[in-house]
Amino acid sequence: MLLSLVPLLLLMVRGSQATHFLGTMMTYYPEETHADGSVSVILRYKLNFVSCTHSDTWQCGGNCGTQTQTLALSVVDEVSGEWCQREGAITRLLPNNTGFETVLAGGDWISNIQNGIVSWRAVTDVELRNRSDNGKPNTSPQTTILPALRIPSNCPKTINLLAFDPDGDEVKCRYGNTSDSECNPCTPPSVLSLSSSCSLSFNPTNSSAELPYAVQLVMEDFPTQNITLTQTNGSQEVKTTSDAISKIPLQFVLKVGPTVPSCTEGLYLPRFLSPTPSNRAQLYTPAGQALEITIRAEAANITGLLYSGPHNMVNDSSGSGNFSLTWTPSASEEGQSHPVCFVVQSSVFGTLYHSDLRCVIVTVGNTPITQPPIVVPPTVPSTTALINSTISPALNVTSRPTTMTPAVNATLLPTFAILNATDRTLAPTSAPGPEYVIALNIKVSTTLSLDSDSNTIINLIKNKLVDEGLPSDISVRLLSNNQVVVTTASP
Ligand SMILES: *[C@@H]1O[C@H](CO)[C@@H](O)[C@H](O)[C@H]1NC(C)=O
Ligand SMILES: *[C@@H]1O[C@H](CO)[C@@H](O)[C@H](O)[C@H]1NC(C)=O
Ligand SMILES: *[C@@H]1O[C@H](CO)[C@@H](O)[C@H](O)[C@H]1NC(C)=O
Ligand SMILES: *[C@@H]1O[C@H](CO)[C@@H](O)[C@H](O)[C@H]1NC(C)=O
Ligand SMILES: *[C@@H]1O[C@H](CO)[C@@H](O)[C@H](O)[C@H]1NC(C)=O
Ligand SMILES: *[C@@H]1O[C@H](CO)[C@@H](O)[C@H](O)[C@H]1NC(C)=O
Ligand SMILES: *[C@@H]1O[C@H](CO)[C@@H](O)[C@H](O)[C@H]1NC(C)=O
Repeated sequence: MLLSLVPLLLLMVRGSQATHFLGTMMTYYPEETHADGSVSVILRYKLNFVSCTHSDTWQCGGNCGTQTQTLALSVVDEVSGEWCQREGAITRLLPNNTGFETVLAGGDWISNIQNGIVSWRAVTDVELRNRSDNGKPNTSPQTTILPALRIPSNCPKTINLLAFDPDGDEVKCRYGNTSDSECNPCTPPSVLSLSSSCSLSFNPTNSSAELPYAVQLVMEDFPTQNITLTQTNGSQEVKTTSDAISKIPLQFVLKVGPTVPSCTEGLYLPRFLSPTPSNRAQLYTPAGQALEITIRAEAANITGLLYSGPHNMVNDSSGSGNFSLTWTPSASEEGQSHPVCFVVQSSVFGTLYHSDLRCVIVTVGNTPITQPPIVVPPTVPSTTALINSTISPALNVTSRPTTMTPAVNATLLPTFAILNATDRTLAPTSAPGPEYVIALNIKVSTTLSLDSDSNTIINLIKNKLVDEGLPSDISVRLLSNNQVVVTTASP
């Protein structure tokens, strides 16, 4: 008698759970370090449920300090009866810069999840110790995702997630580890393969029904060179390029739907058209100034734009296939980068289709000038032993005073060979008058050695700067910390 009661009780508990979760995500930004060593941090998160009335709260463990401000959950976007995404924010004031962990856990995900996930669990590790490379507490990777993405079962597809790091770190994605309690459990979807660069590849399957999978990812930031993290009490820890600094969760539902008659985009599946910004594009807008993102797509029967971004972003449509998203950042968001992702949905004979996922990052501040691909002096003959030297991560050109105009730099160093480039922005200050400070952040990889060929490198940089309009009497110096200083005698 007793034995048969036990499963019955379990069944009743299970039956009382609402099945309504479609994932979450969280990012963080340090806000201020105060004179007494206390640090404030803002945690922004999204909660995805079937309805806008469901809820859950993040639990904090470790150096949690006090919660000084809370932004109540506000609706970002909603597909009635399918999902509602809301954004919330929590500001914490910590007595020192020791990090903490925050966890969201509960039950249940929507029903019939194919990879057997029932309970939800998501974990964020907040690291706020000062970084030796920029002297500031760490910022997490920035990303977002829609609650559900739809894929027809017969089309191969790659989902390139947004993976941006404001500190310039390398962002990597992995599935959560069940043994580390990063989800409950973490079983990955069998139909996806994940690359560490945050791309998910879908391999066509043989299904005719709509099958939902829970995708439970962890995103981490890795320094591009060894850095030291310094605690308020002075103790230090080295993070190498294989040590994650912080981690954030990114969880959503992949809905593998019925086969589509054609996988060609622009027919059943919507296809993005110009001027839709490219995936992972970085956009800029000053605080208080509205940024409008224009989105255009074509397909047989477009029914709407679905998006994830700041909750106060406004959507509009000027007719089928033409959409816009408008957002005005506040002054407190100055310098921060905010993620925005969207898909265009179509509906043909009762089946819903999504375009590719498109994401952009919106940085609050003045527009920098986009730098062309990175440049290297010509390769040295291969008979000599090649010494790979990397000026990394930043080559800073400070020019003061000069008559250089911002536009000049858009074509800086175009005649050299092109190499891998990351983090290329050129941000002139808006200083009035003849004095200009130009900050140029580029990563240069070259087969020349910084030790033996520095004069060649300096001359190549100098010649190019002069070509681009700087006075010919500039002098260029390379500093040991990989900075380039440009000075000129003439005003
Ligand atoms: C898919 O399944 C159906 C029915 O089970 C079968 O007839 C068909 O050959 C399968 N197709 C592929 C590509 O495996
Ligand atoms: C980075 O730190 C590790 C461990 O401290 C050390 O073994 C390695 O040599 C360092 N790498 C560089 C490039 O300094
Ligand atoms: C960390 O950096 C902030 C400035 O970003 C500074 O005010 C603070 O004193 C630093 N703390 C430590 C422990 O280095
Ligand atoms: C600093 O604080 C950390 C944890 O709060 C502790 O592990 C470490 O021993 C402390 N270091 C010093 C030098 O007091
Ligand atoms: C904006 O999105 C909401 C759903 O969040 C939708 O109800 C509304 O129709 C959309 N507006 C336009 C103009 O597309
Ligand atoms: C969408 O915008 C394009 C370009 O601005 C325009 O040519 C087209 O007519 C618009 N379509 C609709 C349905 O408004
Ligand atoms: C186009 O979309 C509308 C709105 O969802 C739907 O009512 C209509 O049936 C769709 N047309 C076709 C051909 O599927």
